[in-house]
Amino acid sequence: MRAAVYPGSFDPITNGHLDVIKRSAGLFDLLIVAVAKNSGKKPTFSVEERIDMIRRVTHHIPNVVVDNFEGLLVEYAASKNTSVIIKGLRAVSDFEYEFQMALMNKKLKPGIETVFIMTDHKYSYLSSSMVREVASLGGSIEGLVPDEIIADIENKYK
Ligand code: PNS
Repeated sequence: MRAAVYPGSFDPITNGHLDVIKRSAGLFDLLIVAVAKNSGKKPTFSVEERIDMIRRVTHHIPNVVVDNFEGLLVEYAASKNTSVIIKGLRAVSDFEYEFQMALMNKKLKPGIETVFIMTDHKYSYLSSSMVREVASLGGSIEGLVPDEIIADIENKYK
């Protein structure tokens, strides 16, 4: 069975993430969406909240499971018996950092392969931090995140 891990902060999941999830799930038998507990950022949503939102918007995709991890991503991937890491690429600006991480992960575990999925151009401007900023300032986040979680995000800032 071909499995892959799609790691991230998902604080919160956006339509851009969901697009990458749907397309990756079509390429692998199993896609593990892995919420990072220690990404160095202070998250707005707890790990439980982030996992719950991802589960609700991916429940219709049978080969997607949602999990969380702490520590090195390559160790987590190995513990799940996969050597494939999925990353979404929005624009050239993402490339340098992602390239650095992909090489570091390969240095840490030479068998690891990072597969980059180009985000649909509709979502190339979209990020979780922008969603949080718009929501916190009372703007509409319709079309930026899945409809099912709009209220969760808006309620955070009420
Ligand atoms: O959604 P993000 O915040 O861009 O995700 C970044 C993430 C969680 C994928 C990255 O920080 C990560 O892989 N963290 C795990 C720690 C690790 O393995 N670091 C070494 C690789 S450079």
